[in-house]
Amino acid sequence: MIHISHTLIRDWERIADELASQSYAVVDNFLSSDQVSLFHTLTMDYYQAGDFKEAGIGRMQNYSKKDQIRGDQILWLDEQSAEPLIQNYWEDIGLLQQYLNRTCFLGLHSGEFHFAVYPIGKEYKRHLDVFKDSDARKISVIVYLNPEWKPEWGGALRLFLPDGELDILPVGGRMVCMRSELIEHAVLPVKKERYSLTGWLKTADTLSF
Ligand code: OGA
Ligand code: MN
Repeated sequence: MIHISHTLIRDWERIADELASQSYAVVDNFLSSDQVSLFHTLTMDYYQAGDFKEAGIGRMQNYSKKDQIRGDQILWLDEQSAEPLIQNYWEDIGLLQQYLNRTCFLGLHSGEFHFAVYPIGKEYKRHLDVFKDSDARKISVIVYLNPEWKPEWGGALRLFLPDGELDILPVGGRMVCMRSELIEHAVLPVKKERYSLTGWLKTADTLSF
């Protein structure tokens, strides 16, 4: 079993505090380097097997493919997956979700996660992670899966904050959480294939149509 054992309650406390005070949190080494390389290999295998699909923007009638705005390829995780890495990630994020519910009263109810690959030259322009027809997504959780990332490869996550822009490199094992409704962000163009695991902790869906 490969649990996120070194993701201590200390990290969770800081995530909760920083989500409350600044609406985002960055945790380095959320995944160990072993976990990063296992995830990286797994993701590359799925990608090379052709399991990924071009990502869209919006959903249902608003869903459209706009490569210029968003150029990543994604693969949704299956909660029933037999893959221990995925099972353990799901469990550990479930514990984080419970902790955030106890401390921040967010009423989080479920999660959804996808792997993402940005091929060379692709980006994701400035956006918020909420859909027009649903405000269920509350916390975005992104974990980076490239064992090595050099600054000259670009691909930073850029947060647009009240006091300016903050660029966060997709360093392997690093985790970024943010309030989905509040923090506008972008993925800058990549010069190297960029791997991540992105997801959302959600309240019960309140679709209005
Ligand atoms: C997204 C997103 C950021 C990143 O998938 O919505 O903004 O750093 N990802 O991968
Ligand atoms: Mn986003």
